[in-house]
Amino acid sequence: MKDADRWDERYRTAKSSVNPAQVLLENRHLLPQRGRALDLACGLGANTLFLAEQGLHVSAWDFSSVAIEKLRAAVRVRKLPVIPEVRDVTSQPPEPNSFDAIVVTRFLDRSIIPHLIAALLPGGVIFYQTFLLEAVDKTIGPKDPVFRLAQNELLELFGPLRLLFYREEGRAGDISQGFRNEAMLVARNSPRG
Ligand SMILES: C[S@@+](CC[C@H](N)C(=O)[O-])C[C@H]1O[C@@H](n2cnc3c(N)ncnc32)[C@H](O)[C@@H]1O
Repeated sequence: MKDADRWDERYRTAKSSVNPAQVLLENRHLLPQRGRALDLACGLGANTLFLAEQGLHVSAWDFSSVAIEKLRAAVRVRKLPVIPEVRDVTSQPPEPNSFDAIVVTRFLDRSIIPHLIAALLPGGVIFYQTFLLEAVDKTIGPKDPVFRLAQNELLELFGPLRLLFYREEGRAGDISQGFRNEAMLVARNSPRG
């Protein structure tokens, strides 16, 4: 079975989209006030709907046709400025200079990171959140360690950008508290002074 088919299977039984990712909820003040946003590997589109409700025109890409069809229905009901598209983002990453904001949550393909950086317009901002190798609860997220971030890896991957926000706690301190299992980063395409 192809990867996209496996995701289709999951989404066929999924009821509706969950909450937007924490990296967006905590940093909504860093979003551009207008312009074009991309929710890459959007799934059912909780982030997409959030971005559109903030006034952005959103492209929402995922290779699961089931997820995209469900998102299309949600967008139609809410009459939001969203273009959902079935798209394999590994073979078709975004074009250079095309978005004011890019959001990626719970998806990791290191090969496309340079394309994401290049796709940001001047002043454009990336919001990234995904799973860590050093997790408190490894039952959440991908089983294959290749799809989990090493320590500080998001910082390295987005090194060419100006860092606005970063959080990664691993298993440090009291593991019953805090933001665990994932890392999150917000960074801006702006010249370094
Ligand atoms: C864990 S889900 C995350 C969905 C959403 N971003 C979220 O945080 O709820 C991972 C998503 O990546 C999508 N995906 C995986 N590989 C992809 C690829 N090569 N191109 C497009 N989408 C892909 C899957 O279909 C799935 O919707």
